[in-house]
Amino acid sequence: MTQSAPEKRLYIKTYGCQMNVYDSERMADVLRPLGYGVTNDPEGADLVVLNTCHIREKATEKVYSELGQIKLMKSRKAEAGGTMNVVVAGCVAQAEGAEIMRRQPAVDLVVGPQAYHQIPELIAKAHRATGERLSADFAPDEKFDALPADRQVTGVTAFLTVQEGCDKFCTFCVVPYTRGGEWSRPADAILAEARVLADKGVREVTLLGQNVNAYDGCEGGLAGLVRKLAKIDGVDRIRYTTSHPRDMDEALIAAHGELPELMPYLHLPVQAGSDKILKAMNRAHTAESYIRLIEKIRAARPDIAISGDLIVGFPGERDGDFEATMNLVREVGYAACFSFKYSRRPGTPASAMPGQVAEELKDERLQRLNALLGEQQQAFNESVVGRVAPVLIEKPGRHAGQIGGRSPWLQPVHIDGPESLIGRIVPVRIDAATRNSLSGSLVPETA
Ligand code: 5AD
Ligand code: SF4
Repeated sequence: MTQSAPEKRLYIKTYGCQMNVYDSERMADVLRPLGYGVTNDPEGADLVVLNTCHIREKATEKVYSELGQIKLMKSRKAEAGGTMNVVVAGCVAQAEGAEIMRRQPAVDLVVGPQAYHQIPELIAKAHRATGERLSADFAPDEKFDALPADRQVTGVTAFLTVQEGCDKFCTFCVVPYTRGGEWSRPADAILAEARVLADKGVREVTLLGQNVNAYDGCEGGLAGLVRKLAKIDGVDRIRYTTSHPRDMDEALIAAHGELPELMPYLHLPVQAGSDKILKAMNRAHTAESYIRLIEKIRAARPDIAISGDLIVGFPGERDGDFEATMNLVREVGYAACFSFKYSRRPGTPASAMPGQVAEELKDERLQRLNALLGEQQQAFNESVVGRVAPVLIEKPGRHAGQIGGRSPWLQPVHIDGPESLIGRIVPVRIDAATRNSLSGSLVPETA
């Protein structure tokens, strides 16, 4: 299909989690009817949106340094007689809107995660100089109701937000403050969006939520929603992220054993392996209860790949506490896992706790942890070598004649094969593994 050339250029830079990736796509959907087409180059753009992340200090600082560059581009465009509007969206906008305005006058508009559907109107207002430059406080349902039903789709996989916010208040985390309380999108709206995606060629849908398994927008919770989605023609693979151990209910565990569409991969952050630290984090689970939970999940779906998040250097973490984290990791055996140095976030309870850990010690611990996680990831990837796995072919490979896809366990797979297979799920013999990916060869399909 051809579209008339867009008149205005929109540059969106996304920081942080997959929810932000989804939000950025939806911002583009909101702005498209107004003549904005997405560009990969901020220089000379008519509208620049930074969709920001506040989770760790580094992520926040990146935004301010990027804004410095954008300011120069805005001046260059003004000198050439043009206009560049600069919008800061997302969680930094929510948490430090006034501070952004003070620190960077080049910013025209600050919008929190629940207000981006209002960007067109707010830009217009900012232009009329009514002084409205900050908009953050909306309920998520207003936003979702206002988003266009249609979605621009670029591949055979897509994110789909089903839940937002968090009521867990882990003591290190800003999310309950930036994203607000737990809220579930009604199932009908989600199913309608999934149908649009499937009609446009999407085969795999990843359901997103800060606490996605706390979803309660239909009977049966997330498991109920997954069962409904699995019935949609074309939706062949379903994933979901991120889950909290507390909300991992029996129905969802059972679904992993019963639904072939539900992929054998679960991101279930534990954060730490010491009960003392878990308590100080307000995690509401112990190392032992987490391990038991993993056992239950593996009993339902033995080949499930477990992933997670871990924090080192939380206030009060002694050597023994860190060793408990290492032991938990050894016991679980992660297929993939993210690890972070604790970052002190203003306003969170942990930032005021005694026993803040020195940066060098955090570095040391992170290095040891990452070495172990790296070994586990390599071992997991090697464990599928020799097997034939169904791979969803997603895109052309790096080299001519190559294609790339994902295994059920979310591993990238490189294969020699024709691009005509993009969008198909084909059997692939896994020949070799590295830490980050697999390579395989096409297996002729048998009837
Ligand atoms: N410092 C370090 N890591 C953090 N996370 C959340 N807040 C912090 C913080 N203050 C990590 C957690 C969470 C992931 C998204 O980010 O591990 O699961
Ligand atoms: Fe943050 Fe904890 Fe909520 Fe996850 S569960 S978003 S870590 S407060």
